[in-house]
Amino acid sequence: MTFTPKPWPRKLRSQEWFGGTSRDHIYHRSWMKNQGLPADLFDGRPVIGIMNTWSELTPCNAHLNDLAQRVKHGIYEAGGFPVEVPVFSTAESSFRPTAMMFRNLASMAVEEQMRGQPIDGCVLMVGCDKTTPSLLMAAASTDLPSIVVTGGPMLNGWFRGERVGSGTHLWKFSEAVKAGEMNQSDFLEAEAAMSRSAGSCNTMGTASTMASMAEALGMALSGNAAIPAVDSRRRMMAQLTGRRIVQMVKDDLKPSDILTREAFENAIRVNGAIGGSTNAVIHLLALAGRVGIDLTLDDWDRLGRDVPTIVNLMPSGKYLMEEFFYAGGLPVVIKRLGEAGLLHNDALTVSGQTAWQQVADVVNWNEDVILPADRPLTEHGGIAVLRGNLAPDGAVLKPSAASAHLLVHRGRAVVFEDIDDYKARINDEALDIDETCVMVMKNCGPKGYPGMAEVGNMGLPPKVLRKGITDMVRISDARMSGTAYGTVVLHTAPESAVGGPLAVVQTGDMIELDVPARRLHLDIPDAELARRLADWTPAVTPPQGGYAQIFHSHVQGADTGADFDFLRGCRGAGVGRDSH
Ligand code: FES
Repeated sequence: MTFTPKPWPRKLRSQEWFGGTSRDHIYHRSWMKNQGLPADLFDGRPVIGIMNTWSELTPCNAHLNDLAQRVKHGIYEAGGFPVEVPVFSTAESSFRPTAMMFRNLASMAVEEQMRGQPIDGCVLMVGCDKTTPSLLMAAASTDLPSIVVTGGPMLNGWFRGERVGSGTHLWKFSEAVKAGEMNQSDFLEAEAAMSRSAGSCNTMGTASTMASMAEALGMALSGNAAIPAVDSRRRMMAQLTGRRIVQMVKDDLKPSDILTREAFENAIRVNGAIGGSTNAVIHLLALAGRVGIDLTLDDWDRLGRDVPTIVNLMPSGKYLMEEFFYAGGLPVVIKRLGEAGLLHNDALTVSGQTAWQQVADVVNWNEDVILPADRPLTEHGGIAVLRGNLAPDGAVLKPSAASAHLLVHRGRAVVFEDIDDYKARINDEALDIDETCVMVMKNCGPKGYPGMAEVGNMGLPPKVLRKGITDMVRISDARMSGTAYGTVVLHTAPESAVGGPLAVVQTGDMIELDVPARRLHLDIPDAELARRLADWTPAVTPPQGGYAQIFHSHVQGADTGADFDFLRGCRGAGVGRDSH
């Protein structure tokens, strides 16, 4: 794609606040000068907002203040004026009821901060799962020149000589305790071993996936995704990002120039190759909605289906992000896709180069981490989109994280009405369930939970675990942590809280899953299904008051990205009237 930079110098939007001698201009400059800022910073140079999701309650982003200083260095070096702006931060590890409930709120808040303040371009400082999509969505909606720099993943976790991955081993150890294979004190000892350094989850979970998506979309500098948080090269990346955004503003290189359909198609294919999180489906659908690109679930299935997963990282594989970086990181994967004809090579990126130009010379330094084409981790990576009478609007499954023997399965449903019902009964030895059953959980979709929590990978019943069984078919309208694994059908739409067919499944019904045929079927007569749906009454009471009410009233289905209906589309960054 060809991009023609705008001529420089020209008047930027920040000059609406700073560039003149009126009372209002003096007002805006004078207050800023209480920080000891020299007059020449207001002379028309690009003002860059460093949108920083630092928070001590978002541990994955708790080191971003340090990194922001390096971004600032870079902005000054390139002749810009950096302003650090703390923005809404969503911690995956602790935000209740789920960080996903606040992705849209964060994006809306950041969008308004971008639009309402004297900012010409933005550095999006993100890391933990939802921080990356929320700020990308904000940037897409304002269309101000923007670039992502992530905080980077934690170093490898190690426990008793073995790699332990964020999240992935939490689920594994927890199941081992339930199965009687690990004692509680060992589990407690492993706690600190899982999180050895600053940074986000070190598996190919949602944070690493979204960092990779940002890079694959062209919204971050090449190589950004995998550099560990504490590696000195992460600081260098931050500084280079600061330098680059100044030139992007001068050139007027905007998200709408980069976030094209081709960019999304590249990202979907990269997701298949890295064995990325199912959460990327929701976030990219929402992001595409902000820039008016008609991306659908079927695009995910069609584009990802023939992409082999070649990145051997947990939860699907063996290694962690640290090794991925040492092997060459995402640029090697992008190059591989380009060589295989699976990449839009000429997609534009924030560097001003095309996707291909950036990776043409990279080398794979470890073929056990980034596997050769003839021995992929999974032949067909990507995301399988299932449809049928149980999911008319679609459901997703990640084949690379599923068990091969369960990809075609017929089993008796054991239904949990919601997460509380599941928690109350799953450990009951009298529960009528075995490994051939299909676990079904309702009311965990966007409106049902609310926020669509990551509870879809329901832990197995202890009596099944004690047999050495580690996987069963599970179906819900929930999401799943990107660090999790299993034959787990997620995002079933329409969700049960709005009367989707999932709402009327009963214990004892037979369910058929056929991943190769992309089919999810409730084996009851059509007339019986119609009768149950006609008799259905909502089990979830809409919340009254506050943000929860806004969320419930406006959130859309998982099949279109669970964005708010009123946030779709680009509203631009037009400067409104002054308040003084
Ligand atoms: Fe923050 Fe995983 S919990 S990245």
